[in-house]
Amino acid sequence: MARLKVGVLVSGRGSNLQALLDSAADPAFPAEIALVLSNVPGAFALERATKAGVATAMVDNKAYDGRAPFEEAVHETLTAHGVEFVCLAGFMRLLTDGFVNRWHDRLINIHPSLLPSFKGAHAHRDALAAGVRLSGCTVHYVRPAMDSGPILVQAAVPVLGNDDESALGARVLEQEHRIYPLALRLIAEGRARVENEQVIIEGPGATGALVNPAP
Ligand code: GAR
Repeated sequence: MARLKVGVLVSGRGSNLQALLDSAADPAFPAEIALVLSNVPGAFALERATKAGVATAMVDNKAYDGRAPFEEAVHETLTAHGVEFVCLAGFMRLLTDGFVNRWHDRLINIHPSLLPSFKGAHAHRDALAAGVRLSGCTVHYVRPAMDSGPILVQAAVPVLGNDDESALGARVLEQEHRIYPLALRLIAEGRARVENEQVIIEGPGATGALVNPAP
């Protein structure tokens, strides 16, 4: 069966991209990474893609007069590479309704909190400030409002008494690298669908969409 052709949008170090590249390196994985697109010149994620033999593109938002023309260029680059499905992996630009709606149910994101808690750029700081005992990460379909949309997979981790942002972040990141490939696999196998803005997962191991490692 043909593998789903995926484009990954990145802005930074690309450790989640690496998890996707590593999974897709197995020919039995149902998705292939067809393109890695960065909006930040020199992002380390681009090096990871090149090393994995995956095509890269640079679409620098600073070179465009506003979000709409930037997103038009991103869209054109994705389609020119035959991309059918898009993963945001540390892509630090807010996308307009126009782009999000064009890729409706073909666009997912990973966020380092148990959504809908702690949206935004400081998820770990906010989780620590709130004093929660559990945090985690979420893979979700993207909707126009920031860090919102039907939830595919979540993993929980404990928040420990002496955690700072970096300790909690590292614990969560380890789980991000597990759940992003899992979410993409469920989609590429055709086992995830959105119904009334909730994700239904079918088939064996559907409960695997909840990852809860022992503290
Ligand atoms: C990840 O922790 C990801 O969840 C987060 O940025 C980091 C990117 O790391 N994304 C967001 O906060 C989106 N709201 P990476 O470049 O090593 O994958």
